[in-house]
Amino acid sequence: MTDLYAVIGNPIAHSKSPRIHAEFARQLGEDLRYEAILAPRDAFAAAVSAFRAAGGRGLNVTVPFKLEAFELATERTERAVQAQAVNTLSFDGAAVFGDNTDGAGLIADLRDRLGFAIRGKRVLIMGAGGAARGVILPLLAQEPAALSIANRTVERALALERQFAAFGPVRGGGYAELGGHAFHLVVNATSAGLAGELPPLPRGIFAPGSLAYDMTYGEDSTRFLAHARAEGAAQVADGLGMLVAQAAESFFIWRGRRPDIRPVIDLLRAG
Ligand code: ATR
Repeated sequence: MTDLYAVIGNPIAHSKSPRIHAEFARQLGEDLRYEAILAPRDAFAAAVSAFRAAGGRGLNVTVPFKLEAFELATERTERAVQAQAVNTLSFDGAAVFGDNTDGAGLIADLRDRLGFAIRGKRVLIMGAGGAARGVILPLLAQEPAALSIANRTVERALALERQFAAFGPVRGGGYAELGGHAFHLVVNATSAGLAGELPPLPRGIFAPGSLAYDMTYGEDSTRFLAHARAEGAAQVADGLGMLVAQAAESFFIWRGRRPDIRPVIDLLRAG
């Protein structure tokens, strides 16, 4: 029987996940169907129950349900616990496994596609919301020399510093404190680009040879990436690779096989 998966969110119409997973399945000859489910904002759990009753095996969860998915899970991975968010659910009898593949997606894109080794590097994350929280533990696991978190609301960055202090050399603060420091990797995890805005970065934060990475893609990422290029970043990348790589990690959780992300990224870029 064809196995059933889906992405669930609100809104969901523009999700690229069905196309990405269909390509993965085609690439690996896996017999599965992958749909998109629009769940009412106040009825996530009911939508998940209906999906399971229909024989669904796993779900990708997107905005605004990642926290509810976390609460619904009966078992959670450490990376989901630290992210306080679940983007991948797997169903096995009564058990609901919750995982978060966002950080692994970022790491895979940086390491495998962009050839960037994090170990020993100085890393800056801009933003201290859910997007930032989801990638901190996986970044620290790569053993950077230092991981700084800068946020407009300084207290949120300090809260993340406290949360992750036991896992590695992490520092939180405001943007002004970045003056005089240069980083090898600068990750934009803010939602500033959605409004065409730019976080208030001081000059000189891009070290020679540095990589600027925006976790959003398309138009949302252009402002930061253009700024980074103008400020001397050697390489810039948007988050399309991360999107495909986090999907590949979910696919691996469900199917035990790893798709090749490059041809799928190329396909999405082609439109
Ligand atoms: P997400 O789940 O996408 O991380 P979020 O939790 O709302 O969404 O967090 C958005 C992040 O973008 C926050 O770090 C926010 O900064 P504040 O905590 O100070 O609100 C950041 N952000 C949004 N617009 C910004 C802007 N114009 N300049 C700088 N940071 C911005």
